[in-house]
Amino acid sequence: MLFPAHDGAFPISALNEQLQSLTERLTKALATATDTTTLEDVRVRFLGRSGEITLVRRSIGTLPPGERPQAGKIINAAVTGLEALVDAAARALAFRALDAELERSIDVTFPGTARATGSLHPVRRAIEDACAYFERRGFAVVTGNEIETEYFNFDALNIPPDHPAREGLDSFYLRPGLLMRTHTSPMQVRTMQAYPPPIAIVVPGKAYRRDAIDARHSPVFHQIEGLLVAPGIHLGHLKGVLTGLFRDLFGPQQAVRFRPSYFPFTEPSAEVDTTCPGCHGSGCKTCSGSGWIEIGGSGMVHPDVLREAGYDPQTVTGWAFGVGPERIAMVRHGIDDIRVLFENDPRVLAELA
Ligand code: DAH
Repeated sequence: MLFPAHDGAFPISALNEQLQSLTERLTKALATATDTTTLEDVRVRFLGRSGEITLVRRSIGTLPPGERPQAGKIINAAVTGLEALVDAAARALAFRALDAELERSIDVTFPGTARATGSLHPVRRAIEDACAYFERRGFAVVTGNEIETEYFNFDALNIPPDHPAREGLDSFYLRPGLLMRTHTSPMQVRTMQAYPPPIAIVVPGKAYRRDAIDARHSPVFHQIEGLLVAPGIHLGHLKGVLTGLFRDLFGPQQAVRFRPSYFPFTEPSAEVDTTCPGCHGSGCKTCSGSGWIEIGGSGMVHPDVLREAGYDPQTVTGWAFGVGPERIAMVRHGIDDIRVLFENDPRVLAELA
């Protein structure tokens, strides 16, 4: 007999005491269970089929029949509480195991590693931004081949046979009549020969020249060519559109000037300069002391070029330009040496991102 009372009966108060003691012993046992196996042993010992609680249940039989339902309720309520204790202990154990695991594999005091995200190269961004400016104005973006014939690179652009650029000293010839294009301008004639007017295109791409490498020059560089041909096009349009482009790329505070110049394929011609990124106008080695750097050439398409392309200069006129994305990137980022853009040091590029 588990709960003998002096009169042989089994009072409810004794039941409560027993449950109380059982709870205390279970709590103590749970506190010493440091792994799931011992915890399970404890659970079986107290709450299992032949565990202590079952003995308590059996003792209900010794109660007067009238008290049995109440005793049953008390025991059921106690079991719910005891099970909750075991569950809580199991959860605590699981947490402790996880903590130990984390401590072993992760040093939470270790400095984090920054996630390296890529970014567009400043030259690529200059090209994309400039093209986007023209696309918003209805221009088509077209590209051409980097290997070009002498005809499209020079002849069709009104560049005379004795022009110094035609010499092998200035251009990369693959064989007579075929060279790495020295500018993107050949695409002007190629496009006009392929399509009737009106034409509104921009041509981003690489160009090649036998230039010695210095702060402003590289034998491989990019250009963006622009061409607009339609009836009634004049120099005012060119100035307006290019001024708008540089305002868009640089912001309104950056000075831009048009300087009369000469190109065989335009008449009149103008070079476009902007404040030098190296000295902001006071003169330095990047701008050879002038305070300005050239970002492109432009002009009204020469009638000979229109004619060569099969257009009638009496009915259509046009302007063209060629700008340098490297120069644009230099101005935007205050870079005073073009080589920074080709060396591709990831630390520098990350700073320019
Ligand atoms: N092709 C010239 C160069 O590479 C740049 C240029 C000047 C392009 C005037 C043009 C233009 O379309 O009209 O130096």
